[in-house]
Amino acid sequence: MAAPITLLLVVVPLVVAAAAEQPQLEHPPSKEDRSLALLAVGDWGRRGQFNQSLVAEQMGIIGEKMDIDFVISVGDNFYKNGLTGVDDKTFEESFTNIYTAKSLQKPWYTILGNHDYRGDALAQLSPVLRNLDSRWICMKSFVVNAEVADFFFVDTTPFVLKYWNEPKDSTYDWRGVAPRETYIAKLLKDLTCGLKQSKATWKIVVGHHAIRSVSEHGDTQELVQQLLPILKANGVDLYINGHDHCLEHISSRDSPLQYLTSGGGSKAWRGIFTPNTDKLEFFYDGQGFMSLRLTNTEAHVAFYDVAGTVLHSWGLTKGAYY
Ligand SMILES: *[C@@H]1O[C@H](CO)[C@@H](O)[C@H](O)[C@H]1NC(C)=O
Repeated sequence: MAAPITLLLVVVPLVVAAAAEQPQLEHPPSKEDRSLALLAVGDWGRRGQFNQSLVAEQMGIIGEKMDIDFVISVGDNFYKNGLTGVDDKTFEESFTNIYTAKSLQKPWYTILGNHDYRGDALAQLSPVLRNLDSRWICMKSFVVNAEVADFFFVDTTPFVLKYWNEPKDSTYDWRGVAPRETYIAKLLKDLTCGLKQSKATWKIVVGHHAIRSVSEHGDTQELVQQLLPILKANGVDLYINGHDHCLEHISSRDSPLQYLTSGGGSKAWRGIFTPNTDKLEFFYDGQGFMSLRLTNTEAHVAFYDVAGTVLHSWGLTKGAYY
């Protein structure tokens, strides 16, 4: 009878140690009813241009109405080529001086997009920026435990093969990433572990690249093949991304997973449409952002344009699948 007990003792600490390798942040809801509210925006940093300032202003207004707990940035934080270093003034010009509303003075949980990798990627992760603006919490892959929901932030740029094989005129800052296969294998292992351990009502994964998209870039095949099966196998509710400069909501046809694109933080791409096999619920090829409200039983998503008009909203009650 001793053998199974020994096995258990050996296995459990290993799992804990593996999961602990990705940074874990605690963000308990501040509201008395323990509900959580947040905004998600992507593909934004253009010194206010291409309506970045208009989107920022409306985020401030909606953020105030919803009394948000935090903001998620899904990457492509600084165009065209990320930051040149920790002293790059673009950080203030495109972030600090743009998102000035009181309601947006909350943590910004941020990941890197492909354009961020074209500059000094490590600069965006540096505590120097957090000293300049305490809202800035940028890491490659990490977890935010927000009680009602666990958010798994995934560094998706290294998945995309063409950035490695055909970088064209761009150079990617793969410090701390290369070799690709090892990095991805570890990332997926940590994610799987974290998802399996998560006891939160809502499991939400955040990446820069879309798994499903009907816009310019379309589906990201590397993510469809390598990331998606893990999300489906572990009951992930929402996948939130940017990369395509539009707003989208697509439903999986064979799982509860919802794909949400919020890549309308500044320059938008008009008039591109590439259908895919999942169910398109909403597509807007203009600028804007997304909000999310979560309780223990309900999720509510809304998309807004530059005028703050609600373009699409969608709700789900947990346990409503038959
Ligand atoms: C900014 O938004 C307005 C709508 O409020 C739109 O007419 C205009 O084309 C947008 N500008 C850019 C540069 O996208």
